[in-house]
Amino acid sequence: MTLTRSIMLRAASVRDLKAIWEIEEASYAAPWPKETFFVDITFNADAKYFVALVDKRIVGFIGGWFKEGKLHIVNVATHPASRKSGVAKQLVLFLLDLARDLKMESAFLEVRRSNVAAQRLYEGLGFAVTGLRSMYYPDNLEDGLLMTKELRSAHTGD
Ligand SMILES: CC(C)(COP(=O)(O)OP(=O)(O)OC[C@H]1O[C@@H](n2cnc3c(N)ncnc32)[C@H](O)[C@@H]1OP(=O)(O)O)[C@@H](O)C(=O)NCCC(=O)NCCS
Repeated sequence: MTLTRSIMLRAASVRDLKAIWEIEEASYAAPWPKETFFVDITFNADAKYFVALVDKRIVGFIGGWFKEGKLHIVNVATHPASRKSGVAKQLVLFLLDLARDLKMESAFLEVRRSNVAAQRLYEGLGFAVTGLRSMYYPDNLEDGLLMTKELRSAHTGD
């Protein structure tokens, strides 16, 4: 019998920074500095971060900025050992629900052109490519795809 382990979500705090940054470092060739997470979680009134836990261990996180009627998803990552089990999907869905509760009109994000896994994740949740951010990523000057999802329509795609 296969047991599906349940994924729990809760708001992140500075006590989670170590776990968040370990996932960040394992997930990106050019990870954000630890200080960026600290400043965003502690001082950015528009920012909200959440962590996903399986068996009480943090296995993923998401961060978004809620500003001027829009949710900007600024980071989402799942620990490599916990991928492909629905963690990121739960995190994005949760943030979208929160954005609707907060009367946001739309959600958007940037994703590397080469990051097919993330593009599939967002497409599956109703995001569509709506623009190009030329040479958006400074480490390798890779283009970013702008992906957007309306939150007010009756048919939200999720
Ligand atoms: C992209 C990422 C967040 C996905 O996390 P995850 O927890 O493994 O994703 P989920 O298990 O919730 O997958 C949800 C959907 O995403 C898509 N997906 C996830 N991983 C995929 C992969 N390797 N290849 C293709 N599609 C993939 C699938 O559509 C999947 O649905 P399915 O399982 O029904 O096929 C994860 O690979 C990661 O942390 N990558 C590094 C950080 C990153 O790129 N973040 C996004 C920056 S824009």
